[in-house]
Amino acid sequence: MIQKYVYGNPFPTEAVVTEVPAGEGSPAYGQIKTEEGFCFTYIMEATDIVYGLGEANRGINKRGYCYISDCTDDPVHTEDKRSLYGAHNFIIVSGKETFGLFFDYPAAITFDIGYTRMDTLTVSCRDADLNLFVIEGESPYDIVKQFRKIIGRSYIPPKYAFGFGQSRWGYKTKEDFRQVAEGYRGNRIPLDMIYVDIDYMQDFKDFTVNEKNFPDFPEFVREMKDKNLRLIPIIDAGVKVEKGYSVYEEGVKNRYFCQRGDGSDFIAAVWPGDTHFPDVLNADARAWFGDKYRILTDQGIEGFWNDMNEPAIFYTPEGVEEVKGMLKQFLENENSTGGITAGTLATTDEADAAGGHADNAGASIWPLMGKINGLANSKEDYRRFYHVVDGQQIRHDKVHNLFGYNMTRAAGEAFDRIDPRKRFLMFSRSSYIGMHRYGGVWMGDNKSWWSHILLNLKMLPSMNMCGFLYTGADLGGFGADATRDLLLRWMALGVFTPLMRNHAAAGTRDQECYRFEDVKDFRHVVEVRYRLIPYLYSEYMKAALNDDLYFKPLAFVYPEDSMAVQVEDQLMLGNEVMIAPVYTQNARGRYVYLPEAMKFIKFLPDGTIAEEVLERGHHYVEIALNEVPLFIRSGKCIPVAGAAEYVEALDTEHLTILGYPGAEYLLYEDDGIGKEYEKAGNYRTLTM
Ligand code: GLC
Repeated sequence: MIQKYVYGNPFPTEAVVTEVPAGEGSPAYGQIKTEEGFCFTYIMEATDIVYGLGEANRGINKRGYCYISDCTDDPVHTEDKRSLYGAHNFIIVSGKETFGLFFDYPAAITFDIGYTRMDTLTVSCRDADLNLFVIEGESPYDIVKQFRKIIGRSYIPPKYAFGFGQSRWGYKTKEDFRQVAEGYRGNRIPLDMIYVDIDYMQDFKDFTVNEKNFPDFPEFVREMKDKNLRLIPIIDAGVKVEKGYSVYEEGVKNRYFCQRGDGSDFIAAVWPGDTHFPDVLNADARAWFGDKYRILTDQGIEGFWNDMNEPAIFYTPEGVEEVKGMLKQFLENENSTGGITAGTLATTDEADAAGGHADNAGASIWPLMGKINGLANSKEDYRRFYHVVDGQQIRHDKVHNLFGYNMTRAAGEAFDRIDPRKRFLMFSRSSYIGMHRYGGVWMGDNKSWWSHILLNLKMLPSMNMCGFLYTGADLGGFGADATRDLLLRWMALGVFTPLMRNHAAAGTRDQECYRFEDVKDFRHVVEVRYRLIPYLYSEYMKAALNDDLYFKPLAFVYPEDSMAVQVEDQLMLGNEVMIAPVYTQNARGRYVYLPEAMKFIKFLPDGTIAEEVLERGHHYVEIALNEVPLFIRSGKCIPVAGAAEYVEALDTEHLTILGYPGAEYLLYEDDGIGKEYEKAGNYRTLTM
């Protein structure tokens, strides 16, 4: 049962697409105060578990920290961070009382889940203007499924998007892309997509292509397609301010950009220098911006990734002016007091401890440095511009978390106009619940750290709970230098994530699969992915079509097993499989907990498959760097294909079945590109 409670005057986010009956009085759980902003408080039992929050830091069980939904471009995902790129305000309390809550509120909102007091859950935000959805059900899993029904069907990508993709910020010319294509095809490592980062554009202008580096771009798109490779370009949120650039000119003329209070177009510096943000919350501007994707689809492009759409801001002219003012004052002070005193030249930490104001006779440089460091993504800047929604001006900070959602919605709605029968690949960095209907999400700028394999794993089921099924992290890590073993282990997790992409930042060590010794190990791991695609795609489609989960915590399947409900480093995938990747350097295997007897499967580097039935309980399983493990639940089976170099080449007629004799598997298969999902012929039963 779901009930909706309305507080104040909520902004219509369109996250929920189904009519939900209004609740009477107050919700049956916790206490709500609306005098100073909004505050929900609930006292938790010691063993209550809290699930949800989608793309958020820390564990599957979110207890013990404070998280803030406030879409943020922060490339350092350490344990202390409270905000990442998404705002997914859905949680489920599971324990003595079990219920779900969706706080449909588009600005910053804080989830203190046993941080201030270990037994207290507090959800608070500045304005008491929101819709609160309260969901009751027999289990957390049941609650998730009910929630997923009211937010609408998750995005379904084309089937080729289940292939492997290579990306790197720094590929600049046709030659760079040809080298990647050759690196994969030449080494017979399967590949379906090469991602095209910002350098393809002319001066980082959206929807343009650098003519010098890519003369006859459509022909180049075709050249790659002939190799069964698709180019997937990036689109950024900011539109470069440049006279004569048609997107800029049209946006200015039609008032499609976000404006300052005085009506002038708001300027934010991002990759191209000064940019304007398309007002994607405004329906006309959204349709206009969406239609721009056609410029590239007309050249043969079939998929995109949307970036910098928190929206990220490096600095604004206003911010720079303030810095200049402080600098001027600093220099004046310095002259009058005879320079910077020794005390002011303390370490940054000391200055921070002093609140950024080292109190000395001389001129202090810390406030100035703090100001400069705070130029990017500053809260002040988010208060400097406005959207126009249904004729009403709305200050950006009040709806901040909806920008990435609506940029991606712009694209998704446009794809339906461009070719309503066809699926396009689309995923975004920033998101809000509701965006899951238009695209997937990648987990942003992670690092080549072992801890980030585990963070990647833990985010997966939470993302799914919030509707984001097509998701994955930059395999090998975006920032910092990858090592061969890290990439292999991370890819052995990536084998199972719907979005499987290796991506790295400019300036980091090359990490394409063919850059390391013994390329055959990488070929093997990627081949395992392709061999599993009939199963992975089938489970993805069943999850999407039934508003179900592709990844689940073990707790959702074995709620009575007190051991299973605590597991944070293994996941259930679909209805048949459990995964338990290795995420520790130099480990030769790992401990794993089996809530029931399972078949332990290892894809060995020689192409054969080892299998062994393991009893319920704890086991240490050996897993070499070049092996891919999975577990099949008792009485179940999964289909496995022969390897192929790209998705369309997979032979799905001749499948091997792995698992328990006598088991049956219901396989979903369709043409992979159209939208006739409901055809009866899409299902067939396979028997082991
Ligand atoms: C952002 C994106 C990253 C991309 C880079 C350059 O940092 O998150 O994936 O490579 O911008 O476009």
